[in-house]
Amino acid sequence: MKLRRKISLISAAVALCCGSVGAQTGETAAPAATPWMNAQLGAEERARLAVAAMTFDEKLKLVYGYFGADMESKKSTRPAPSHKQSAGFIYGVPRLGIPHLWETDAGVGVASQAGPDARPGTALPSGLNTAATWDLQTAYAGGAMIGAEARAYGFNVLLAGGVNLMREPRNGRNFEYAGEDPLLAGKIVGAQIKGIQSNRVVSTLKHFALNDQETGRTTLNVRIDDRSARMSDLLALQIANEDGNPGSVMCSYNRVNGAYSCENSYLLNEVLKKDWGFKGWVMSDWGAVHSTVPAANAGLDQQSGMPFDQADYFGPPLKEAVLNGWVPQARLDDMVRRILYAMFAHGVVDHPVAPAPQTIDFKAHAAVSRKDAQEGMVLLKNSAGALPLKPSAKRIAVIGGYADRGVLAGGGSSLVYPAGGNAAPELAPKTWPGPVMVYPSSPLKAIQARMPSATVVYNDGSDRAAAAKLARDSDVVLVFATQWTGEGFDMPNLSLPDQQDELISTVVAANANTVVVLETGGPVTMPWLPKVSAVLEAWYPGSDGGEAIAGVLFGEVNPSGHLPATFPASESQLPRPVLDGYPEVADRRFDVDYSEGAAVGYKWFDLKGLKPLFPFGHGLSYTEFAFSDLAASVKGGVLRASFTVKNAGKVAGKQVAQLYVSPLKVRWEAPKRLAGFQKVELQPGAGVQSSVTVDPRLLAVYDSASKTWKVAKGDYKLTLASSAADEQSISTVVHLEAAVYDVTGKLTR
Ligand code: BGC
Repeated sequence: MKLRRKISLISAAVALCCGSVGAQTGETAAPAATPWMNAQLGAEERARLAVAAMTFDEKLKLVYGYFGADMESKKSTRPAPSHKQSAGFIYGVPRLGIPHLWETDAGVGVASQAGPDARPGTALPSGLNTAATWDLQTAYAGGAMIGAEARAYGFNVLLAGGVNLMREPRNGRNFEYAGEDPLLAGKIVGAQIKGIQSNRVVSTLKHFALNDQETGRTTLNVRIDDRSARMSDLLALQIANEDGNPGSVMCSYNRVNGAYSCENSYLLNEVLKKDWGFKGWVMSDWGAVHSTVPAANAGLDQQSGMPFDQADYFGPPLKEAVLNGWVPQARLDDMVRRILYAMFAHGVVDHPVAPAPQTIDFKAHAAVSRKDAQEGMVLLKNSAGALPLKPSAKRIAVIGGYADRGVLAGGGSSLVYPAGGNAAPELAPKTWPGPVMVYPSSPLKAIQARMPSATVVYNDGSDRAAAAKLARDSDVVLVFATQWTGEGFDMPNLSLPDQQDELISTVVAANANTVVVLETGGPVTMPWLPKVSAVLEAWYPGSDGGEAIAGVLFGEVNPSGHLPATFPASESQLPRPVLDGYPEVADRRFDVDYSEGAAVGYKWFDLKGLKPLFPFGHGLSYTEFAFSDLAASVKGGVLRASFTVKNAGKVAGKQVAQLYVSPLKVRWEAPKRLAGFQKVELQPGAGVQSSVTVDPRLLAVYDSASKTWKVAKGDYKLTLASSAADEQSISTVVHLEAAVYDVTGKLTR
């Protein structure tokens, strides 16, 4: 028998036998007719054809994920074809041309773990930094860069795309996310996902949903009404999903209104798949599955990271459940079809990753990271032109924050290991969610390089008296203050740890020309603020952070970041002055009531008339800008605001025009919402006309009963501002007719 004929007989047998419960075929021979490999067909059709060719056991394999590292505590070893020290692995179906899934964390780059197998990667600055750029191109470029590294290392799934809303400024994972506003966060993360997937690598959207604190994350139950959820946390996820079109969504650890997110039919089947039309697959977070039948029927498509869960829920128990009809065969097929759909749609099948790591241009990637960092650093305060630093300064003191060695990174699963190794390996904790990582990009060296004839002296800040003495003897003092945050824990409060507030107060008492550079996971309080001359929020600035900071301090780059989250004046201003469940007690179950509803961040502050330390949207520049000519038009129900931005100062710079909208009569969850934004770059003296189109959902109130967004007829004030509390803002009033939009924001009548 000729070979080709033999193969086609096998494939005919495959076609006859497969797709039903219990069907088995050999794993070795490839069928001649593999219509799902025809790239001319649509991804849905290809997925349907491939599912029809799969055996029951092949289907079960595809919905079961492994952890990609050995786990001593569970006596488990990673599957042989997985990549060492990786987040996850799922067996594909090689006989049908379906590749394995190799998964890696996360949002700032290709994460790794300690040890000889650590994979060097380029770290972007923190997610909050990228959100602070208010620049979708920067977010896209960062995504494209880390997606390229993922592919180069042989991964076809990057578990990036974190967009949990910052309801809780003490949340240890805020640095992985994009702040407190659903529009800004959704747009930024959507752009990042698009960038990642431009490499034919699937990106995830996570953590679905309302996983807004780490304390008790696996046991807490969030209570929130549907309308508020749709207008806050879910809206951020919805926008990121629309803009980014991720192949996968990761359900979270916590419970929402009583049900675990990974077995929450309302969230998964109703909101995500039905209302938003999500066609990809839902994977669980690592250890977030609690059942077989409820989870599968509630919409979970793939169990991840075994042995993280208590049991093999999507292993033999799922087989048994399908054989007994407790989970319909059609549901298993749907799970598999969704995974395959995403693999086809995002090029994972047609463009398989290379078996061996590819060369990475780390220099070029560092430049991408640096640009992101510099675009997102926020100049919070700058009195008497303290910054940029003057070349005339002769004696510069650099104090604290390991600034002689490098810049801080956030901890947990998203941690990227740098090529040069940890610059501060002695710091604790050394194990998960550590190590406390300091990337070897020294601000001190970068500063020294820019002032070859000045004396630049470093003091580590451990001895306050010595630091003060150095400060007294210097023309200018740069204090670097750090706050290490990470996955699995929250901050007890918003204060800088390790008595750094005392250090800064002591130093500024010795020399008023003190500039504070913050490397923090999120907002912190600043008791010394009135005394210091300048504050630069540098977040976690990524692989090239030292250079990035120095470039901004010296004015090579004009800062243009704006806060993606409110900096409270104290914890007492928060909806929950004390963090629920803190300190964590293992296995304790508790409710977190999001009774503030959709009034998150600045919305809460506006509603309660509170004055924050720094408002949402705030960010200074080395130049001055002016807004004018704000005009609004409504055509076909679409609101558009046009305006002029001018650079009224002496140096080139970028301004973020923020459009806020407030109803004059109707009551919303808060007095105003961010409705649009635009970052513009301007030479000194130049002006530009710009405009933003407003997503109707930001003018509406969600109606849960009809699943529509309803805009009430009436007058609305539009304010163009450079922060949520900008006193130089300009405004106009626009009249809107009543309108109803469907659940995805499309006009219905
Ligand atoms: C995190 C996820 C991560 C996963 C895999 C979990 O602990 O919550 O964000 O993708 O681990 O490492």
